[in-house]
Formats: sequence, C-alpha cells, structure tokens
Amino acid sequence: IVVPAGLFGAKRRNSAGVDLSDPLVREPLLERLKALEARSWTAKPGLGKGEARSIVSPHDHRITVGTTFEATAADVDRMVRAASDAQIAWDSLGGEKRARLLERAADLYEEHAEEFFSLCTREAGKTLVDGVLEVREAVDFLRFYASEARRQFTRPLPLPGPTGEQNELRLHGRGVIAAIAPWNFPLAIFTGLVSAPLAAGNAVIAKPAGQTPLVAALAIELMHKAGIPRDIVQLAPGSGRVVGGTLTAHPLLSGVVFTGSTETARMINRTLAERDGPIIPFVAETGGQNAMIVDSSALPEQVTRDVISSAFQSAGQRCSALRVLFVQEDVADSMISMISGAMEALTVGDPGDLKTDVGPVIDEAAKKVLDDHIEWLDKNARKICRLDEPKEATNGTFVSPAFYEIESPSQLNQENFGAILHVVRFGNDELDKVVEAINTTGYGLTLGLHSRIDTVRDYVEAHARVGNFYVNRNQIGAVVESQPFGGEGLSGTGPKAGGPHYVARFATERVTCIDT
Ligand code: NAD
Ligand code: ALA
Repeated sequence: IVVPAGLFGAKRRNSAGVDLSDPLVREPLLERLKALEARSWTAKPGLGKGEARSIVSPHDHRITVGTTFEATAADVDRMVRAASDAQIAWDSLGGEKRARLLERAADLYEEHAEEFFSLCTREAGKTLVDGVLEVREAVDFLRFYASEARRQFTRPLPLPGPTGEQNELRLHGRGVIAAIAPWNFPLAIFTGLVSAPLAAGNAVIAKPAGQTPLVAALAIELMHKAGIPRDIVQLAPGSGRVVGGTLTAHPLLSGVVFTGSTETARMINRTLAERDGPIIPFVAETGGQNAMIVDSSALPEQVTRDVISSAFQSAGQRCSALRVLFVQEDVADSMISMISGAMEALTVGDPGDLKTDVGPVIDEAAKKVLDDHIEWLDKNARKICRLDEPKEATNGTFVSPAFYEIESPSQLNQENFGAILHVVRFGNDELDKVVEAINTTGYGLTLGLHSRIDTVRDYVEAHARVGNFYVNRNQIGAVVESQPFGGEGLSGTGPKAGGPHYVARFATERVTCIDT
C-alpha cells in the first residue's frame, strides 16, 4: 500500500540529488550540461508582452543565457486581477488535490533537473554542487508543503461545544499573495515562496529577482505542466521598483511573502502601510550578520572544515553564511593559521568547472559593495589571507575569499554578502560579552558554536537571539522539515520556511457553528 506522504505519520522522503563523486554519473552529466549550453532561455510575464532585456552569465559577461521580458505596471495589474478571479476555485479544490499537483510539480522538477543545473550555473553563477543542492531543496519544499496541505487543509478541525451544536474550524486561502524572491537561491527559495501559499489555497504572483528570471520561468512552466492553472501561478519578471512596487501597493493583494535584504523588507513594509485595501500579512526573511564561536575545547580540524564551508561555499552569498568568527584567545593563533591554510587550497573560477569551489558574485553592484568593504578592511584591520583573482575575473564579477582580523564586531555595520570572513579574539571569561555583541547587531539568523562543554552550549542557546543554532558543524544548508529556517529581529518575521507553522500563515481561519 502506498500511503501518501504526510498522512497517518507516513514518512516523506527528501530528494536524493546526484552523486557527483561517481564518474559513471558525473561524466555523462557533464556531457549533457555541455550540450545544454547552446540553449537560449526566455522568461515572460503571465499576462502582457513585457520589455526585453538580456541576461548574461556572472562569470563571463560575454555569454548571453537568454532574454527576460519585464512586466510593466499595467501587466502586473492585469495579472493580479486575473489571479483574484481564479483563486476561489483553487481554494475550493481542497488540500488533497492541491497536494497532488504540487507533488506532480516536484516529479517534473526532478525530470528537468539538468536544465535547472545548467541555469543555476550559467544564470546565477552557482557551482554544480550548489546547483544540485538547489534542485534538491526546491523539490523538498514542494513535497513538504504538499504534505502540509494534506495535513491542515483536507478536513475541518472539530471544536468542542455544547450538546446539539457543531463547531468547526477551516483553513482557507486568503486570496492573491505576492511572492518576492532573491537571486541567491533562484530556484529553492523561489519555489518555497511560491509553493507554500499555493498549498494554502492562494493564487500567487511570483516575482523573481531581476538577476535570475530564467530559472524561475522554467519552474513556473513546470508548475503549469503539472496542472496548476495559469492564472493561479503567474510569473512577474521585472525590477523591484516597477513590479515589486506595483504588486505590493495593489489593493487586491492579500499578503506578501518575501526573502531578500532587510532594507527592501523595510521598503515593502512602508508600501503596505500606505496602500488602500485590507491590512495584510507580511512574511519576510532577510539578512544576517552571522557569527561562530570557537572555544578551546573545539576540535581544530572540524572547526577548519566548518568555517571554510560556512564562510566561502556559494561565494559567501548565503544569508546563513558565517561573517564573524569569535575565537578564544588561547587557541586563536593556531586556529587562524589552520583556516588560512585551508583557504589557500580553494579554487576560485568558472562555476561550471567541477574543480571550482568559489564562483563569481552575482553582478557588478554586488562586487562594488564587497570591493569597497575590502578596501576599508585594508585600512582598518589586519589582513590574514586574500586569494588571488582568477583569470576569469577579466570578463566576470569575482571577489576572491578574504580573511581579516578586526578589533571588535561593532566595526561592522552592515551585512557583507560575499566571501569575506572577519575574526575577533575573546578572553577566557568573556563568553557573555561575545553573546551580547552578537545580540547587539540586531540580526538573528544563524549562529555556529564549536565547543565540547555542555554548559557553554546551554548558555549560548539560552542567551543568543538567533533563529538557527548549529553546534559542532557548519551553519549553512538547512534541510526542509528537519531544520526549519529563518531568523529574528532584523533577520525576519518568521514563521520558519520548511517548518510546521509556515503554510498556515498564508491561510485565513473560518469557524462555522451549526445548531443541530
Ligand atoms: P533584495 O532585497 O535586493 O531583493 C529581493 C527581491 O526584492 C528582488 O526580487 C527585488 O527585485 C525585490 N525588490 C526590490 N525592491 C523592491 C520594492 N521596492 N518592492 C518590492 N520588491 C522589491 O535582495 P537580494 O539582493 O535579491 O538578495 C540578497 C539578500 O537576501 C541578502 O540580504 C540575504 O541575506 C537575503 N536572504 C535572506 C534569506 C533568509 O532566508 N533569511 C535567504 C536568502 C537571502
Ligand atoms: N536555507 C539556506 C541555508 O541554510 C539559506 O543555507
């Protein structure tokens, strides 16, 4: 008997991904990816023609990956109206039928995984390893939110009441939700932001980041192919100002789910406060100034491995990435030297090459912010290690990994979204000061701890105001359902993506009382 995932406690299995260490899998895959390079991709708005713009590869601007047609304000208005008209029928389908369509979309994502790998590398500059992780996480979001639709939206919740009265609570979609996505997880986060409100019975206008509309377009195409109606999920490629601004100000909108910078979240908050129409929920997952604490009981090899992946994987372009490493002074010199030694072994370059550990940053604007920060560090901090620019840097946007010692974390006043690691030493009885410094940033996304002392772990767990706390491991790569992800304070509103409270946040609760 096949029991659908999520029913009767049946186990939903996470996506298996691809074993790139197996040459029999890897070599034919690389051949097929090579063939896919000839393909030109397109992103178009759900309604309207849009205005054409070319998308080039971050690692080599001479490569055009495809063309996006950016929605105008009038296109966005038409999309929201069509979505609003279609939404009740989608809501009325119920959780089980919506779950099946989302699961069908997950199957199609797996069937088209190689196209996604190609797009993640060429459009977003992701390494192949990161591309594989993107597809796995996206598939996991689709299947997990499908199981949540079944769990919470299939039948009403009976409520207690006096004899002769029947009371029930039902969850319904709220209406049209704007899902506004960042470029750094152009498939996984985009899919999560779109599929959770869909699971809850909403129509969704999906706005990808300006840098990565092509991968998003393939995702939406596969959702349509799976049977989700075209008016229920519509792509709205375009700029934050025109598409994002028009969407969030639209009076027919019923909610916004957003992942991106804290600054943009504030702008959206202001637009929502000033718009006509009902007061609507705003779910925002934003930036971080993430730390790791290492004390003298930590295992140095493990710390080195976990610092390298936390700080430099995905070229440091993860909201979860490690930015400030606090090391107890007794072990600081040896830890710093092991980490900089391991950095020297990293390869920076073409993300399509399997030897590459660190690919490009997304665009010139991102590079300029990081280069300016490194210039500031050169004047105000101690340089420990800076890798050379790769040969690809002539035609692409690269910022090679950098490692600097600073006096105090208060010198850093913004999230530096790239492969720049800062280290700060702390004294033997200064753990409380370290935790206070972490809390003082106002961000609260991820925190790593390497310590074998239980009282240290308990202290940090009780006092650090962060969403995801990782002990004796790296602090990136949260797994859907196992590690629901999201922060506090300047890092976001919650609820956590991939967690048990997420889908219901996009629902409205209705109670029916019947006097029998
Ligand atoms: P961003 O804030 O620049 O853009 C995010 C999205 O908002 C894009 O689609 C953009 O077009 C849109 N946008 C911009 N202005 C808008 C406006 N006025 N109204 C409506 N929409 C608007 O962020 P980014 O550069 O794409 O992504 C990187 C940021 O995302 C980093 O700060 C990172 O920490 C954060 N992030 C957070 C998480 C998390 O889960 N907490 C995950 C990934 C990324
Ligand atoms: N969920 C992503 C991670 O944990 C952002 O790295």
